[in-house]
Amino acid sequence: MSLLEQITKLSAEFNRELDAVKTLPQAEALRNKYLSRKGLISDLFKQMKSVASEDRAAVGKALQTLKNSAQAKFDALLEDLKQAAPAIPVIDLTLPGRSRTTGGLHPLTSVEMEIISIFKRMGFSVERGPEVESTQFNFDMLNTPQWHPARDETDTFYVREDMVLRTETSPVQIRGMLRKPPPVRFIAPGRVYRNDKPDPSHSPMFNQVEGLYIDNRVTFTELKGTLLEFYRALLGRDTQVRFRPHHFPFTEPSAEVDVTCFLCAGKGCRVCKHSGWLEMGGSGMVHPNVLSAVCELRGDDVYNPEKVNGYAFGLGIERIAMLKFGVEDIRLFYENDLRFLGQLG
Ligand code: DAH
Repeated sequence: MSLLEQITKLSAEFNRELDAVKTLPQAEALRNKYLSRKGLISDLFKQMKSVASEDRAAVGKALQTLKNSAQAKFDALLEDLKQAAPAIPVIDLTLPGRSRTTGGLHPLTSVEMEIISIFKRMGFSVERGPEVESTQFNFDMLNTPQWHPARDETDTFYVREDMVLRTETSPVQIRGMLRKPPPVRFIAPGRVYRNDKPDPSHSPMFNQVEGLYIDNRVTFTELKGTLLEFYRALLGRDTQVRFRPHHFPFTEPSAEVDVTCFLCAGKGCRVCKHSGWLEMGGSGMVHPNVLSAVCELRGDDVYNPEKVNGYAFGLGIERIAMLKFGVEDIRLFYENDLRFLGQLG
């Protein structure tokens, strides 16, 4: 059989088989048989060298036509089959799994939540106040007179003459007492701002938790007992608390509160500077002037310092988080570097 006859025959066979193809695997088999590098059409090309030179152009052309038209018909068929094929998802079980990273709480948020839950168990509710605060609430009503150094522009961000970024959470004491008559027992967590240059232990923005309890005949002993219980719940049952006399304008008497260093259990280490104690915050019995100022603004007598009294305290969240997590630079909390946050999440 001449090569030309073989071409004609193969073309007919290809067409017949093509018509019978119904599935993608059958199409693949057809492609292998005719169109692949070792397929029947390739075989015919290999026979070209035995064709007489005067016939070669015509035979070559016929063979090329066969190849092109077979490929084109095959492509069209494949397209049809793919369109018609039901969309069965192909699951490649050898692919590696897609890992999904879950979000986590910021370490400061989780410490704040822990602090809130401890105080809630002790009967405290939660108040919030604005971060842009009047000088009246931030200073005046907290018995912090005009001449007090805390009011200085070098310590305080002034928004305007009578508005500041609150320098402490203490003004929420005032807001809580304006909102509700006594007895009140609440904490107030939130951001505060001070005009400090950032360094490993300072940030112009940080977080505090304020506490206030006003009732009849509240004692300093209750303040001590409450803070002792709080720090034991937070840092461990062995924690001891120490009160050092101090001055704050809005409490009298006032004290700074230290806890035994929970890293060295009071033995002395680098973190507590070998003293065995860590300073955690301030506290005291609410100054009568604060209660009088609240009465004046409320226009009633329910916070009359002759009738009610109470205690207040404040503590820093970053400080606790730094000690709990062993973080040595406060700025790490605000840089949002996931390599850092992921370790504490
Ligand atoms: N507001 C004080 C500060 O930021 C902390 C503080 C001290 C709060 C004594 C109080 C308190 O409520 O009684 O340094």
